[in-house]
Amino acid sequence: MRYLLCLSIFCHAVFGLPSQANHTQPPVIDLNYARYQGNRLAGGVDEFLGMRYASSPVGDLRFRAPQDPPTNNTLQSATEYGPICIGVGEEETTGEVSEDCLFINVFKPSTATPQSKLPVWLFIQGGGYAENSNANYNGTQVIQNSGDGLLFVTFNYRIGALGFLASEKVRQNGDLNAGLLDQRKAINWVKQYIEQFGGDPNHIVIHGVSAGAGSVAYHLAAYGGRDEDLFIGAIVESSFWPTQRTVTEMEFQFEILTNETGCSDASDPLDCLRDQDIATFQKGNTASPFPGGSSSPLPDWYWLPVTDGTLVPGELYRAFDKGNFIKVPVLVGDDTNEGSGFAYNATSSADVSRFFRNNYPHLSDQQLEKINQAYPLGEPLPRHAAYFSASSAAYGDATFTCPGNLVASSAAKYSPDAVWNYRVNIIDESNIAGGIGVPHTFELPAIFGAGSTGTLSSGSSYLTYNAGIIPVTMHYFISFVLALNPNTYRYLSAPEWKTWGNGERLRLQTNDTAMEVIPEKSLELCVLWQELSEAMEDRMSVRDLTTKQWISSLFEPGQILLWAFKSYVKVNVETVLRGQILAPLLHPSRLRDEAFGRFWVTFSTNRESDAPPPPPIPTSGEIQGSSDLIPPILSHASGIVLDVGPGTGTQMPLLRSPAIQTIYGAEPCHGLHAELRARAISEGLSDKYYILPCGVEASDLIPALQKQDLLNTNTTNPTAVLKNLENTGDGVFDTILCVRVLCSVPDMQQTIQSLYTLLRPGGKLLVVEHVVNPWRTRKGSIIARAFQAFYGLLGWSWYMGNCSLNRDTATALRIAAERDGGWESFELERWFQSTAMPYIAGVLVKKGNK
Ligand SMILES: *[C@@H]1O[C@H](CO)[C@@H](O)[C@H](O)[C@H]1NC(C)=O
Ligand SMILES: *[C@@H]1O[C@H](CO)[C@@H](O)[C@H](O)[C@H]1NC(C)=O
Ligand SMILES: *[C@@H]1O[C@H](CO)[C@@H](O)[C@H](O)[C@H]1NC(C)=O
Ligand SMILES: *[C@@H]1O[C@H](CO)[C@@H](O)[C@H](O)[C@H]1NC(C)=O
Ligand SMILES: *[C@@H]1O[C@H](CO)[C@@H](O)[C@H](O)[C@H]1NC(C)=O
Ligand SMILES: *[C@@H]1O[C@H](CO)[C@@H](O)[C@H](O)[C@H]1NC(C)=O
Ligand SMILES: *[C@@H]1O[C@H](CO)[C@@H](O)[C@H](O)[C@H]1NC(C)=O
Ligand SMILES: *[C@@H]1O[C@H](CO)[C@@H](O)[C@H](O)[C@H]1NC(C)=O
Repeated sequence: MRYLLCLSIFCHAVFGLPSQANHTQPPVIDLNYARYQGNRLAGGVDEFLGMRYASSPVGDLRFRAPQDPPTNNTLQSATEYGPICIGVGEEETTGEVSEDCLFINVFKPSTATPQSKLPVWLFIQGGGYAENSNANYNGTQVIQNSGDGLLFVTFNYRIGALGFLASEKVRQNGDLNAGLLDQRKAINWVKQYIEQFGGDPNHIVIHGVSAGAGSVAYHLAAYGGRDEDLFIGAIVESSFWPTQRTVTEMEFQFEILTNETGCSDASDPLDCLRDQDIATFQKGNTASPFPGGSSSPLPDWYWLPVTDGTLVPGELYRAFDKGNFIKVPVLVGDDTNEGSGFAYNATSSADVSRFFRNNYPHLSDQQLEKINQAYPLGEPLPRHAAYFSASSAAYGDATFTCPGNLVASSAAKYSPDAVWNYRVNIIDESNIAGGIGVPHTFELPAIFGAGSTGTLSSGSSYLTYNAGIIPVTMHYFISFVLALNPNTYRYLSAPEWKTWGNGERLRLQTNDTAMEVIPEKSLELCVLWQELSEAMEDRMSVRDLTTKQWISSLFEPGQILLWAFKSYVKVNVETVLRGQILAPLLHPSRLRDEAFGRFWVTFSTNRESDAPPPPPIPTSGEIQGSSDLIPPILSHASGIVLDVGPGTGTQMPLLRSPAIQTIYGAEPCHGLHAELRARAISEGLSDKYYILPCGVEASDLIPALQKQDLLNTNTTNPTAVLKNLENTGDGVFDTILCVRVLCSVPDMQQTIQSLYTLLRPGGKLLVVEHVVNPWRTRKGSIIARAFQAFYGLLGWSWYMGNCSLNRDTATALRIAAERDGGWESFELERWFQSTAMPYIAGVLVKKGNK
């Protein structure tokens, strides 16, 4: 009986009565979790406004991924927009601006039914990740102009500190990049429910403007470019790429925010931030200078997406460069003067440098000088100071136009026939008189129709001499949404829009729309920005170490050593006091292992959770930086995973990806197992994470794997088992993680060799390890190498659980694949080369098919 009842509700939900075009009857939609009644407009369009696509992200849900909306069986009104999300420096206003803002809006032809399966245009608004700037656009005109051929969807997502607070504390007890997760939730919502409205869940085109277009770039590159079949085309309108930083680099924001909201002394500052009422919280939802920058001018953009190792595995420039993105047809372009709305009103080249440093604080003096040379004093612009044109052109290229070109050229490498680029050059006299040329996103009314993007002023040129560009622009966009090609249904008089080729684009200009070749000079400038991208998007790199930081980095291992030594002394003293007077002499290794275990637990938990460490470790951004190497590398983990030496499982939050099937943590130190297990439970991985009580030497590991039934062999001799795998070419693991472990295995070459054998063909070895100093490559390295040797003499490996400072792990890794003629791909990068703890980090892929 109950079963039948459930079934009938289900049927009603899925095959809910199709809404007929009937002007006297408002349309109703049933979404299983809620029923909504929308508006039926005179023009043959239904609108469903202000539907919840996620629960209200308040209270404990602050700084967390969006959750499913609650179920409500009452018919709800969807005839008015929900409030937009509260942004940087804003106040709540009833019904208009709120923290409770995760609403979505659908426009559909009134005639569309669940059988219609029309293409879906999903629009992601912009606002610099600081506000919801393009909310509540009206889809009526594009639907009408498409011949009732599509559905149009808009939504709000969290921005500012509520959307993009980054800290290890958030990673541990919340979610990074919540604003981007909101967007994914909305995209998934559309995928799940749009059929009810008459849309085709397999024909969704995402279109972002500005930060929304930056977001589209993030969704193309999400999870390393993993295709989850969420969309089949992308429109990238004036893609905004501000500085992208690591979590460590953003901790300063967390500190300022907690201070300004009265949470810095709370026992758990993140809980405190969740408890604050919104008015108090907003006191800290403001901008401050980046470390290394000044407050004049303040950075244009402050709360931003960060490298989180999963959704955002690394820098956008690198992702597109390396082809780590989803290959779908792309429409991408920019305005002639992208920077004019944001650039500093500079009076000198020094002003330009200060503006750039404040927005991209890792740029060095030399790099700033290069920028000045590339963008010299130009023609003065009306109502602006002498160097405004230089600062505007440089900022426009750096932050919008060159990223857009990169998306186009990268996508064209894979699908040359499915990439179209444009430059908007719609001339408006009042913009020209104001000195801002053709500014950022000026074309929005031309895409959606006059009046659809907010009320136009009566003097707007779109109502007079620029009216002619509207149908031209709108129909290219409609055509792309319908056919994934802007030409198929283009406007009668509009020219053919050729693909990117070697750098060709369509100029969208009233009465003068035509193809044009991108000038050589512009392409050269983009090469410059590509070169600078590492400093602009990336973590601090070694050349940024000041002498002071470098010296302190040399002494840092000494401090760690001292800490471990103290733990050793303590353990010895305690043992003697317990009456085991001779233990230090009779069982030195046992005591040393115990001391190291204790040291490591405090050391690693302090590192990862930022609790005040007993002996303070100096935070020279650099060495701290080594933990920043881990998330982007671990994001590549998938399938059956071997986690070598997980310790207490501090890396586990990075292993939540659904692409991971099972994880085996090989941890020889039994004392850590309880904590490791507890961590697996708290991370929700208890049914995925298995602890193997063993090391990774073959003699230890192989029997443990046999016990788990992971090896199907007729022998128990580890060497024979490996030989067998070698001969058959089989393997056990899809991914093996080596994070700070290879320094301490007894026979590294042997161990790496057997790990290599255990990898399946096509499997990945993910490596983050510190290595011997490569003294030949960088200035100061001879000294750093001498320091390594010195710490060795002081007994580093004795106190540090057999860890060795001077291993050439990279070479050992390379050699391991020699019998197969090398790795399929061997991407190791070196970091912190001038310090006494240089690192290698990267992904090695074994040859053969998966
Ligand atoms: C529209 O709805 C009204 C009220 O339910 C009904 O009486 C009428 O017949 C409908 N008209 C059409 C054209 O379906
Ligand atoms: C369900 O929706 C109705 C109508 O909008 C509203 O009054 C009610 O509070 C909602 N119930 C819940 C539990 O949210
Ligand atoms: C959208 O535009 C149509 C046509 O101009 C209008 O009737 C409708 O009220 C608009 N919707 C909203 C929510 O403003
Ligand atoms: C915290 O705020 C107080 C008063 O606003 C200020 O004086 C102090 O410098 C701030 N501390 C930090 C670490 O920002
Ligand atoms: C820029 O600076 C110049 C000269 O200092 C000034 O005349 C002009 O009004 C400023 N323009 C803007 C938009 O601030
Ligand atoms: C474009 O052409 C139309 C019709 O000839 C004219 O009215 C309009 O002013 C022109 N606009 C521009 C910007 O040239
Ligand atoms: C075990 O199996 C391998 C290959 O399947 C075979 O070559 C070997 O002779 C077998 N050994 C024993 C002891 O049966
Ligand atoms: C260090 O190596 C020795 C000898 O190989 C071994 O007995 C000891 O358990 C190792 N210690 C650690 C912490 O791995």
